[in-house]
Parts: sequence; C-alpha cells; structure tokens
Amino acid sequence: STDPIFLGIESSCDDTAAAVVRGDGTIFSSVVEGQTALHAAFGGVVPEIAARAHAERLDGCAEQALREAGLTLADLDGIAVTAGPGLIGGVLSGVMLAKGLAAATGLPLVGVNHLAGHALTPRLTDGLDYPYLMLLISGGHCQFLIVRGAESFVRLGGSIDDAPGEAFDKTAKLLGLPQPGGPAVSREAERGDPARFALPRPLLDRPGCDMSFSGLKTALLRERDRLVAAQGGLFQQDRADLCAAFEMAVADVLEEKTRRALALYMAEGADRPALAVAGGVAANTRIRARLTAVAAKAGAAFVAPPIALCTDNAAMIAFAGIERFRAGGRDGMDLVARPRWPL
Ligand code: KG4
Ligand code: ZN
Repeated sequence: STDPIFLGIESSCDDTAAAVVRGDGTIFSSVVEGQTALHAAFGGVVPEIAARAHAERLDGCAEQALREAGLTLADLDGIAVTAGPGLIGGVLSGVMLAKGLAAATGLPLVGVNHLAGHALTPRLTDGLDYPYLMLLISGGHCQFLIVRGAESFVRLGGSIDDAPGEAFDKTAKLLGLPQPGGPAVSREAERGDPARFALPRPLLDRPGCDMSFSGLKTALLRERDRLVAAQGGLFQQDRADLCAAFEMAVADVLEEKTRRALALYMAEGADRPALAVAGGVAANTRIRARLTAVAAKAGAAFVAPPIALCTDNAAMIAFAGIERFRAGGRDGMDLVARPRWPL
C-alpha cells in the first residue's frame, strides 16, 4: 500500500493514548490508558495530576503502540500529535514527545486539532465522503460541524455553557452516583419515569442550533432538594425518575437541534448526505436512537463509529494527521501547544 503510516499521540485531557494507523483506514494498534482512577477522589479531572500522568506514561504508550503494530519508527511516514485544545500540561507533553521523535528520525511532524480528530473519525471508520454533518457530544465538547475537508469546518452551533457529558457527570454527582456519570445516569434512567419531573428544555424556544445544559442541572438540583426536604432523603425510585427526566430532556434538546442542523446542512445538497456522531455521549443508546430517527426522517445516513473510536483515542489523531499531511499540511519544531484552539 502506498498510503502513509502515522504514529498518533493524544494527551489533551485524561487519556494517554498512542496509535499506529495507515491512510486506508487500517488501525494497526490503538493504546488508550485512562486516568479515571487517579482523578476519582476529586470528582473531576485535576490538571496537575493529568499532566504528571501523561508525562510519565506517554513514551510507554508510544512504544506499546509500535510493538502491538509490529512496526518500528523506520516503518513510519509521519508523527501526528494533538496540539490543542486541551489541558496545557498534557498537550505540552505530547507535543514534546512528537518533536523529539520527529527530530530523531527526520519524519514529518503534523500538529492536529483534537476536535478535527473527532470530526474526521467517520472517514477513518466508514470512509464517509465530504461534506457530512458531525455532532460532537462529549464531556468537554458540544458542537455541530459541517465537515467539508480535512481543514475545512463550518460550525453551525454548540453549547453556550456545559457540554452534555459534563451535565451527565454533574447530575451523577448530585445524585450520589459514580463517575463517569453518563453510563451511571443512563442505567438508573432505565427504571425511571421521565414524566414525573418537569425539567426545562433550554434554548429550544430560540431559533438556531445553540444549546445549553447547565440550567438542566440547576433544575434537577431544585427537585432533589425539594424531595430531601420533604422526605429526609432520596429513595431509589426518586433517583431513577430524576435520571430518566434528565436524560429525556437532553435527548429532546439534542433531537430538535440536530433536526435544525440537518436542515441547514441538507440545504447545501450533499450527494450522499450523512449525520455522524462522536464523543462519549454518543454511547448513549436513547440519544443514539433519537438521532438515528431524525437522520432517517431527513433522508441522511446515520454513522456512529465504534465507541472506542468515539471517545478520546490516538487513532483519530493519527488519521487526522494523515489527512492534513495529504493536503500538504505539516509543522516544524516551532509547533506550539494551544490550550484554546477553535476549529
Ligand atoms: O469523549 P469522552 O470520552 O471524553 C471527552 O470528554 O473528551 O466523553 C466522556 C463523557 C463523559 O462526560 C461521560 O459521562 C459521557 O461521555 N458518557 C455518556 C455515556 N457514556 C459516556 N453520557 C451519556 N450516556 C452514556 N452512555
Ligand atoms: Zn475528545
């Protein structure tokens, strides 16, 4: 194959990851070391702890990715690394490792925007053609993008406050459920009655594709406190009903805003229109079902990469690096780590 083979490096949040990927979509290896246990006692990602863990584990991850791929640095055509946005300590560790490897081997160095990594994943997994609509819903991100090319993204809207995963995590915390909150809240919601509590549907009454999820959490807190005041605590059914109401509200908002984003995207007349999702919240079965239905109704294909590639990983970074590289993009030793970097 003449497709380039890249090592990808990702360390922008709480996953230390390295992967070896070929331009035809072959994933030779994808190593992801989570840090959930390190941060568990703090109820969120602690930047200092994350930075130290990345610094300690990153080269080991890269070695393991090469070993699992059965390749050496000499087999590679380039090094791709997340250069932002994210927690700066972690991003710096990744960028420094990538520069070191590129300097030692003479391989091209390609800095990748973490969001572009997520946004290009459906090309890696499903070979989607441009342009497609991407809904990125994770713990830190929430936006609609029309993906027109490896470096061409049109943002249609996004959350003006919390990302939906963050809202799931905070909801779990409010109700005494474990982190990460998404799976825990979703599990509870299965036994709950979504109609018992009337939670708001923020920004649904306003035009456009912007969303808001922080008000939901406040409304939920109010219901919880009312129950605690009235009955001295929360019963298991209360918890399930609150989770069901919360999940339903998030799903309603995402469904309606996706319908609007799809309408804008479809108006551009793509040959084979598609809605793709990425981010940890895309693992949610009820939200997935809603999005599948909206896409079908609009006449667009629905594409959801495997969960392991929806959440943070380095295969998406390697692949986005290859896409940038093919488009002529590359960086020098002056590549900077950026805490903020809009697409
Ligand atoms: O993409 P991701 O692994 O990390 C980043 O935020 O970059 O997403 C993690 C987020 C967490 O907030 C987690 O609670 C949420 O995705 N999540 C879910 C589910 N599984 C994970 N949210 C709702 N339902 C789920 N089943
Ligand atoms: Zn991410």
